[in-house]
Amino acid sequence: MSSTGSTYGGSSVGAGRTHQASVGDTDVLAVSPVEAEHLVTDTAEDLSVFDGLTVERAQAIIARYPQARSALLPMLHLVQSVEGRVSQAGIQFCALQLNLSAAEVSAVATFYTMYKRKTCGEHLVSVCTNTLCAVLGGDEIYKKLGEHLGAGGKRVGHNETAGEPGAPGSITLEHAECLAACDLGPVIQVNYEFYDNQTPEKAVELVDALRRGEKPAPTRGAPLRDFRTAELELAGFWPEDEPGYRATVDGPSAAVETLRGAKLAEDRGWTAPAMPNPPLPEVEKK
Ligand code: FES
Repeated sequence: MSSTGSTYGGSSVGAGRTHQASVGDTDVLAVSPVEAEHLVTDTAEDLSVFDGLTVERAQAIIARYPQARSALLPMLHLVQSVEGRVSQAGIQFCALQLNLSAAEVSAVATFYTMYKRKTCGEHLVSVCTNTLCAVLGGDEIYKKLGEHLGAGGKRVGHNETAGEPGAPGSITLEHAECLAACDLGPVIQVNYEFYDNQTPEKAVELVDALRRGEKPAPTRGAPLRDFRTAELELAGFWPEDEPGYRATVDGPSAAVETLRGAKLAEDRGWTAPAMPNPPLPEVEKK
């Protein structure tokens, strides 16, 4: 069952951010075991984990769209808020709710890296190892965290969990593609909240705090929540005290680093050349 309790209402907004694994200086292939579980089977799965509240939420998601199948992405986040991953049962639940085949649901669930095949820890720690962050220290951070979270000389690899998945203090580590914060790199996300300008030492302090049950404030954006609660929010369900919640989320989005290029250009009087304005080709009328 989700750790979110019943304090989440049914208001709108689904979301989907995706990122993928990359191969940088860190030997990620060596720590990325192939996952063999198949998501489509002929067996009827036990769907009892999806209780009445989850079904109610699924129906609320479907009601947002003219066609039920359009609700699949937030539905998969809803499944992850319950299971901490998308299991075969989760695939069947979505298929039944949306009148899709299991193969159709599975094709989507296995395409986006935000949908997890293995149960995530209480926290998902994503280290950006894309080019800019990698050269600024992202590879080093990923390697350091893998070693720090590991045990018995074995480091924690991509999509692996330190601790019992889902239990308090458990942490799933992943390396991620560009997290769209290159100006603040190297960056880490915890449950998709940003921790900017990281170093290996700061990253170790961060995961140690998470393991102690603390929730260090992200650099910007919403307060940190656990992975399953974040998944419920991605499915579009906010706390019932939505105004209070929004007051904690809203904030400035442009950092000094973000605006530095524009400021330099302004100070030096640089301007971009005018946009060319060629005539548009005639379009054949149908
Ligand atoms: S390369 Fe890391 S945020 Fe863009």
